[in-house]
Amino acid sequence: MREDGRGRVELRVRAPAKVNLYLEVKGGRPDGYHEISSVMQAVSLFDEMTLALADAGGIALSCSHPALPTDERNLVTRAALLLRRRYGVTQGASISLLKRVPLGGGLGGGSSDAAIALLALSQLWGLNARLRELAELAAELGSDVPYFLWGGTALCEGRGERVSPLPSQPMDYVLVMPPWSVSTPEVYAALPTGLTERAMGSKNVMRALAGGDVDLLGTSLRNDLQESALSLHEGLREVWSVLKESREVCHARGLLLSGSGSSFLVLVRGRREARRAADLLASTLSVSCAAVHSLPAWDGRLLPLTLRR
Ligand code: C5P
Repeated sequence: MREDGRGRVELRVRAPAKVNLYLEVKGGRPDGYHEISSVMQAVSLFDEMTLALADAGGIALSCSHPALPTDERNLVTRAALLLRRRYGVTQGASISLLKRVPLGGGLGGGSSDAAIALLALSQLWGLNARLRELAELAAELGSDVPYFLWGGTALCEGRGERVSPLPSQPMDYVLVMPPWSVSTPEVYAALPTGLTERAMGSKNVMRALAGGDVDLLGTSLRNDLQESALSLHEGLREVWSVLKESREVCHARGLLLSGSGSSFLVLVRGRREARRAADLLASTLSVSCAAVHSLPAWDGRLLPLTLRR
């Protein structure tokens, strides 16, 4: 926490993106959601948030992305209002959000912003909230939001809100981020009805992550939403086909759609390979690509903006 030029107390923090290394849809639920089992991994692509105390009530959000509403349709505003209501907070906050994680890209940007806002505001407002209490609020905001309170590598079950940390070794990826936003409800709605049981489930992914086995991870990646997302978007099918063709030249160990898309992850061995593959894919596909690495769990701690890796 520090003071800005006008003597206001403010926090400057980062909100990381995630990828799904495994996403099994186990079936529909009476509440309209789907029962899933997903291995989530936080990666080094970040939104940035500055949060400042305001003595008067309201929550004022500003955002670098013109297409993103700043009222209650924004998960950050919703998170702040929910926290204020639940803890009877009288102070307000002004929040400015710099978006780097694409919207509707399957990288959890909005969910991450909301979770990090819960953590930062509970610090700024001196709430002393327990992580498990925040996780209940987070689950009201969205299925992926609780995960971002812990980050790192985790198995997410239920509709995604039941989070269990997993041991993992560092991994390197390229994020391929086409400029389209994909609707998660549409992708879930287009799932085939007969879902097949997975013999190995997420076991091999977990084993590969724990042991740092890149090749095993590459062959165990799975996302049940991928076929459905590809069936809805011709552009995604084109990117997927170029990725498959570029697999060898990129030295890719695995390829997968992240979440409901539109972003893909390319698993490679080492940071140099990641940078090389990112350059190559960016020029072949003419879409934004980023070399990223896995992030360890932050377990409720904030990631300050100044600590760049
Ligand atoms: O929880 P969240 O608001 O992120 O979910 C967005 C939509 O994605 C839901 O309204 C639902 O249609 C779909 N969804 C689902 N099963 C999940 C998670 C999301 O069907 N486990």
